[in-house]
Amino acid sequence: MDKILVHGGKKLSGTVNISGSKNSALPILAATLLTKEECVIHHVPDLSDVHYMLQILDHLGAQVERASGTVTVKAEKVTTDAPYEIVRKMRASVCVLGPLLGREREATVSMPGGCVIGDRPIDLHLKGFEALGAAVRVVGGDVKVLAPQLKGAVIPMTGKFGSTVLGTDNVMMAAVLAEGTTVIDGAAEEPEVVDLANFLNKMGAKVEGAGTRRIIIEGVKELHGAEHEVIPDRIEAGTFMVAAAICGTEVRLRRVQPEHLGSVAQALERAGFRIETTKTTVTVTGNGDPTSLELTTETYPGFPTDMQAQMCALLSRAKGISTVTENIFPQRFMHVSELKRMGANITLENNTAIINGVNALSGAPVMASDLRASAALVLAGLRAEGVTEVNRVYHIDRGYEKIDDKLRQLGANIQRLEGL
Ligand code: EPU
Repeated sequence: MDKILVHGGKKLSGTVNISGSKNSALPILAATLLTKEECVIHHVPDLSDVHYMLQILDHLGAQVERASGTVTVKAEKVTTDAPYEIVRKMRASVCVLGPLLGREREATVSMPGGCVIGDRPIDLHLKGFEALGAAVRVVGGDVKVLAPQLKGAVIPMTGKFGSTVLGTDNVMMAAVLAEGTTVIDGAAEEPEVVDLANFLNKMGAKVEGAGTRRIIIEGVKELHGAEHEVIPDRIEAGTFMVAAAICGTEVRLRRVQPEHLGSVAQALERAGFRIETTKTTVTVTGNGDPTSLELTTETYPGFPTDMQAQMCALLSRAKGISTVTENIFPQRFMHVSELKRMGANITLENNTAIINGVNALSGAPVMASDLRASAALVLAGLRAEGVTEVNRVYHIDRGYEKIDDKLRQLGANIQRLEGL
């Protein structure tokens, strides 16, 4: 297992290129199963989660080729069974259910288990499939969906914690090949859902309203091949914005869509940092320690849960008391105990972290627990005194393309120790 060593205290400056979005690329790659024809997807990030998805497509019978950031998939014939051995590595594998159901009218995919950020049920995905006419059973740890006929329906998709991103994706991917009109009410509005809808429309689907709470899908008989470029990763971008705030002088992010970064930019501005944007860049100017904030995670366009841990790292050094409330995954606070090992003063009250800013963090050996928590520990390490040793960095490699190289380019003193 690799480790990352961060020697804290270096100032960051310069320019960093942001990669394609993981959370767009994964469902878009799954959507290539909807056609027999070739699909070409550009700006696909080089991440372990993407490798897992390509393995699943390969297992299902698709021909997959990858040349740097471009992936070509041709799924002339597909099987419909994705077993535990290949699905267990990544929760997002559940998003092959929708396209397989749409194309083959059946699918068996191992049911994703819980994960460290919370319970993560898929009841809303399954209710959506049922509304389209599928019979859904969970047998021996597998979800089996079967629908001799798929018929459009009005589907309310909101649960206890609001809308669901992959649930919206999954139902949309099944409904594009259903008979008649489907309306998803309470749809997720995230940019990644819009990106998937744009790709589906390039394949010949008729999807309207993506990016709003109501998506309307007119079913078509079949889809054809298409070429698409994945949007920039707004969470990778947000993470580098926080890195710049933690210890930057001036850091410029290139290849971003600033309109996707509004809530993160606003939070950083409220904390006292200067943010400047052009059409495809964002520049963050570090300005000493942040002022304290009250922050709450929400569905898009609110502040993203995927940026919560990184903000906790930043606010650990704020002047005064901050509160960070997690409304999407109420238990997503595994980073807190590790940040405390670095000297942060944080208490948890239910789903709120109360952060009393300290003057200094100190480097320590810490354990990465999930993707965003690991990123938070690297960010804290950039500002800590001494060396922070982040263990289990395979979590980071699931969602950040070469984060150590990119930070090093900006001036960080960061090393990867391989295979320890
Ligand atoms: N939920 C249900 N029932 C469902 C589905 C979701 O109750 O059937 C609940 C979840 O438990 C959670 C809330 O609804 O409380 C939102 O979950 P959502 O379904 O939107 O999450 P997801 O689609 O499984 C995606 C991202 C996550 C990101 C969330 C929220 C991908 C591959 N994953 O997950 O990304 O945190 O949306 O924005 O798109 C990450 O990248 O680190 C990551 C975890």
